[in-house]
Amino acid sequence: MVDLAPKGLEGVYVDTTEIATTDKTGNLVYRGYRVIDLADKTSFEDIAYLVVYGSIPDADKSRAFSSFLRENAQISEESGKIAGIMKGRPVIDVLRTVVSSLKPEGVNTDALLSIAAKFPEIIHSAANSSPAGSKLPEAYPDRFYYLLTGKEDRNKARLLEKILIMYMEHEFNASTFALRVTASTMADPVCAFTTALATLKGPLHGGANSAVLKFLLGIKNRDEVKRYVDSALEKKEKIMGFGHRVYKDKDPRAQYIKKILLENFRDNPAVQNAVYMEEYIWNKKALAANVDFYGALYMHLLGIDEKFYLPIFAAARAFGWVAHYSEQMSNNKLIRPLAHYVGKMDLTLR
Ligand code: COA
Repeated sequence: MVDLAPKGLEGVYVDTTEIATTDKTGNLVYRGYRVIDLADKTSFEDIAYLVVYGSIPDADKSRAFSSFLRENAQISEESGKIAGIMKGRPVIDVLRTVVSSLKPEGVNTDALLSIAAKFPEIIHSAANSSPAGSKLPEAYPDRFYYLLTGKEDRNKARLLEKILIMYMEHEFNASTFALRVTASTMADPVCAFTTALATLKGPLHGGANSAVLKFLLGIKNRDEVKRYVDSALEKKEKIMGFGHRVYKDKDPRAQYIKKILLENFRDNPAVQNAVYMEEYIWNKKALAANVDFYGALYMHLLGIDEKFYLPIFAAARAFGWVAHYSEQMSNNKLIRPLAHYVGKMDLTLR
């Protein structure tokens, strides 16, 4: 018997990265900075620049990056038509299809960023018949908030910005690893983004947040929380929004979003039930709430429709994907592991 890597590659380091990690205190780190510090002090666009280029931009670079994202945000008539044909389908499917139809513009960072820049307008066109218009707010989070809700609201856009920052990057998560496998074949960025979007959709990865919201809005009190959790654990069902491959004690992103939820919506019954549910599940099974648990309720309280939650995650993570595609290509080797064959052998055809 050969030595197999652990199932799901759990605990296996498969390559190095300079983009993100989790430090010894359990904090998520982008390019050396703790994400919770970045989110308190810096803008989404500057952090996207940091993740992609490796340093915080000065004022000129920051302005130029922001303009670049704005100038590349608009989608073509063809993309609008493809979104129109798919109307009614899950927004993440429309996003994946429109992204897969984009014309590859090369393999440089600008080409990658111009794909990421289009996500908010593609997401908008998946749910609206009318085009996004040309007079959109300048900053990325404000523009995105407007495209999601049809409203300009600086405060809510600032709150959306925080969760976008939390979602932006997470080293070798499943969608990013899938993107790197595709990049390693030297397929173009459009193919790699399509792979990543397909992988993100699964409920064990990005698809958990909508399920969490349905549950949290449906329950009335602590007894219902207990009944739901007890029954799910007894039946050995997975409770969406709990557990994580990396964060076994606490997900720092979930704790950050919880803090803002409590600062802004402390008296909301769903928030109180969520906090109780986190405690109850931790005490019963030592499972930590992950970012999708508080993230879903957070976006709901910002007035954002549930169909957008996974696409919002994708739009933020797209900047992490840009960085990983570039890092993979900077020192590429085809990712092609081995499978230990345990099937039948030496059969004869009659
Ligand atoms: N609900 C109930 N039990 C859970 C659970 C959950 N959400 N997540 C993990 N567990 C249990 C497993 O059943 C297993 O229990 P056991 O040892 O008694 O068999 C144990 O915890 C270890 O879980 P495992 O699935 O092996 O961990 P993993 O690292 O492979 O999985 C996830 C991580 C994220 C896939 C998993 O926690 C999960 O499915 N969570 C729900 C989906 C989710 O919220 N995804 C978003 C992630 S950000």
